[in-house]
Amino acid sequence: MRTLMLSANELNTAKIAADIIKNGGLVAIPTETVYGLGANGLDESAVAKIFEAKGRPQDNPLILHVSRTEDIEKFCHSIPQAAYALAEAFWPGPLTMVLPARDTVPKRTTAGLDTVAVRCPDCAITRDIIALSGVPIAAPSANISGKPSTTTAQHVHHDHDGRIDAIVDGGPCRVGVESTIVDLTDERPRLLRPGGITPQQLKAVLGDLVIDKAVTASIDHDAVVKAPGMKYRHYAPAEPVVIVSGSREKAAQYIRKHFEPGDRVLCFEEELPLYEGCAPLSYGQEADVDTLCAGLFAALRELDDPSIHQVYARCPEGDGVAFAVQNRLKKAAAFHVIDAEVEV
Ligand code: TXA
Ligand code: MG
Repeated sequence: MRTLMLSANELNTAKIAADIIKNGGLVAIPTETVYGLGANGLDESAVAKIFEAKGRPQDNPLILHVSRTEDIEKFCHSIPQAAYALAEAFWPGPLTMVLPARDTVPKRTTAGLDTVAVRCPDCAITRDIIALSGVPIAAPSANISGKPSTTTAQHVHHDHDGRIDAIVDGGPCRVGVESTIVDLTDERPRLLRPGGITPQQLKAVLGDLVIDKAVTASIDHDAVVKAPGMKYRHYAPAEPVVIVSGSREKAAQYIRKHFEPGDRVLCFEEELPLYEGCAPLSYGQEADVDTLCAGLFAALRELDDPSIHQVYARCPEGDGVAFAVQNRLKKAAAFHVIDAEVEV
């Protein structure tokens, strides 16, 4: 199969992409968070192709992308007022809501659950593609399963050239980590995955929020979890990653002492001078967490190289958007954290 490269700036791109979706094909779509691998979310056989292309476990459900809030009524029922309040505050934007699913949504999309995740992305070309195709687009992050997510069209090309129908190039993703997911099907709203919309922002609208334990801790493979995707090893480069926490100086002391040839250091731009000779790679500025979010996956992909032995990574402290960076980096590190204030 030849994979078409379409530019978001070309006038007919939305129509070409929408036609492929209508015909049951696969199109990688840009969003403000990460690139998605999209197909008609109401077409079982189109959705099956997503799972095949990604190598995604069948029990991991997909997010339905809509071009406007009203459309969730076609795919969800018993929608609480809180969902409309969140949509009003954050859509289009990096927020996904889990709601009770209508029968119109195939079980293959929801992986057999009676709930469905919905989101309206903050990306005009992708909303145009959804609107023109006349169906919701089911789209997981476009990376091969288990690998770091795709934040440029080139990342998608690397993973899927020759295996999908088209890639729409909308440039690098602004946010850089996947959407915040909030489950509204329980008595209390529950955060399933942190992202660009912070827990503080959600609480300001909802008044209440439970943080699911899978967000901050490692999960057993057999455990029953709210978002099935949370139990899989994620975002991981080929080699082991270990997070080194503690002050800038203590962390540098620890890493420089244990560093061996073939290792790499993933750090903040401000720390680069501390790691001369240790093959450092910066993913953004500690002083501006948004840049860390935007740069994390590209850096993890660069470090996805079997010739590297081990990666020592620095992780931002704090809540807000830093919470999302901590979640992704800890998953990449399989929750392996060394405290340089304690260990030498
Ligand atoms: O930013 C994003 O959300 C990107 C872009 C493309 O929109 N998409 C994305 O999809 O990250 P994916 O498939 O990589 O992650 C979706 C997560 C998975 O962890 C999945 O288990 C969870 O959402 N999920 C989907 N449907 C669910 C449901 N009904 N209940 C609970 N979790 C659900
Ligand atoms: Mg993903």
